[in-house]
Amino acid sequence: MKIRKAVFPVAGLGTRFLPATKAMAKEMLPVVDKPIIQYAVEEALDAGIEQIIFVTGRGKKALEDHFDHSYELELSLRNKKKNDLLKQVEQLVPETGTIVYTRQNEPLGLGHAIWCARHIVGDEPFAVLLADDLIKTKQPVLSQMMQRFDRLRASIAAVMEVDKDQTDKYGILDADPIEDNVVRVRGMVEKPPPGEAPSNLAIIGRYILTPEIFHFLGKKKTGAGGEIQLTDAMEQLLKTQPIFGYKFEGTRFDCGDKAGFQMANIAFAMERPEIREKLLAFIRQVDQEQARN
Ligand code: UTP
Repeated sequence: MKIRKAVFPVAGLGTRFLPATKAMAKEMLPVVDKPIIQYAVEEALDAGIEQIIFVTGRGKKALEDHFDHSYELELSLRNKKKNDLLKQVEQLVPETGTIVYTRQNEPLGLGHAIWCARHIVGDEPFAVLLADDLIKTKQPVLSQMMQRFDRLRASIAAVMEVDKDQTDKYGILDADPIEDNVVRVRGMVEKPPPGEAPSNLAIIGRYILTPEIFHFLGKKKTGAGGEIQLTDAMEQLLKTQPIFGYKFEGTRFDCGDKAGFQMANIAFAMERPEIREKLLAFIRQVDQEQARN
């Protein structure tokens, strides 16, 4: 039961990031110099994923073009002997046939977006990556999860502890610890108001799911926010098979949120020697100027 396929839902409206996302998928917003979807695709390929399944909506063309050859650009870089850049743009095109696209005709929710990929996934366990959850870590989170899957042989959601007043932004677990960094799920609820949440253990956008999830997603039951929620389908799946939560190693940035996106840019830019010093000096300068005014 190797995880070969990964689903990338990229059809959301990205309303928290308007107006930037009016005509462009938020997954194409760049952190430093790469669209956030590229970080997620690289994570999946690093983990050994063989098929990338995009569930697209608006902004489809830019996304498709990003993972395809741009002959004009490549020729121009070659002629100008900009070999490093040429290598970078060539390398981000996966082998032909690796990427498959399907379309979510209406943004009815994350659960519905994943259901749109059911025929491509078929009857095997698969991964789901939400690109707007960008995670800075040494070992990609999906490969951390795959190692656990090899043993647990069941659905796994990446989780992290969040502030108690933030539970209404996440799917939240009711769960028992079973071993280092792994919990066994007893229940889960989407976006519970603070005070009503069973814990502060929040689901983050990395999942390994068994194919039985499609049965529950297919019921198209709407939940929080009037959307077809993955968490609700997982809650149903839990009645028939175990589900685990995995506390991943790494720092997560919510790039679907304006503040989280800026933080991701700073954190990733600070790792780049050619940017770090300039950025630090600039932040100090802005801070001093604002303190004066
Ligand atoms: P979010 O809830 O973060 O995305 O969904 P959103 O709805 O686009 O954002 P806001 O809340 O309006 O700002 C998580 C992921 O699920 C995808 C999004 O593209 C994102 O990657 N998604 C969400 C879909 O593909 N289809 C949907 O109907 C909803």
